[in-house]
Amino acid sequence: MEKLILKAKEVSKNAYIPYSNFPVGASIKTKDGNYYVGCNIENASYGLTNCAERTCLFGAYAHGVKKEDIVMMCIYSPKNHVVSPCGACRQVMSELIPSDCEVILAYGENGIIKTNMKELLPLSFTSEDMEND
Ligand code: THU
Repeated sequence: MEKLILKAKEVSKNAYIPYSNFPVGASIKTKDGNYYVGCNIENASYGLTNCAERTCLFGAYAHGVKKEDIVMMCIYSPKNHVVSPCGACRQVMSELIPSDCEVILAYGENGIIKTNMKELLPLSFTSEDMEND
């Protein structure tokens, strides 16, 4: 878990944040011991900003990672209070990481809150909801 947090901390330094000046880093660990990272990347249109969580997961999938490979995810903010994923990211995360995946919300020097995907988005909308009865 320490290494996962360190990875999120490191990548938060790459955040492209000319508008908010609010860096966020995200990291995942896979079953084979690999790590994938992402940071927030903003845009002058604001709405096209990509949060750290989505950058991380899209990058990992582009490298061939599958949902069942992911064992843990970390979201890090250097600020002194916890950053919890936005609603859009929760929806994306719930499709791309397992529901029992541990999610570590890390902040500041040593702040940590441990949760999991199911807790972050209960009663989520999934592809199964579109299946005919
Ligand atoms: N942000 C993230 O990257 N992840 C979160 O969980 C919350 C918000 C980013 C988006 C934007 O670049 C900045 O933080 C301020 O909202």
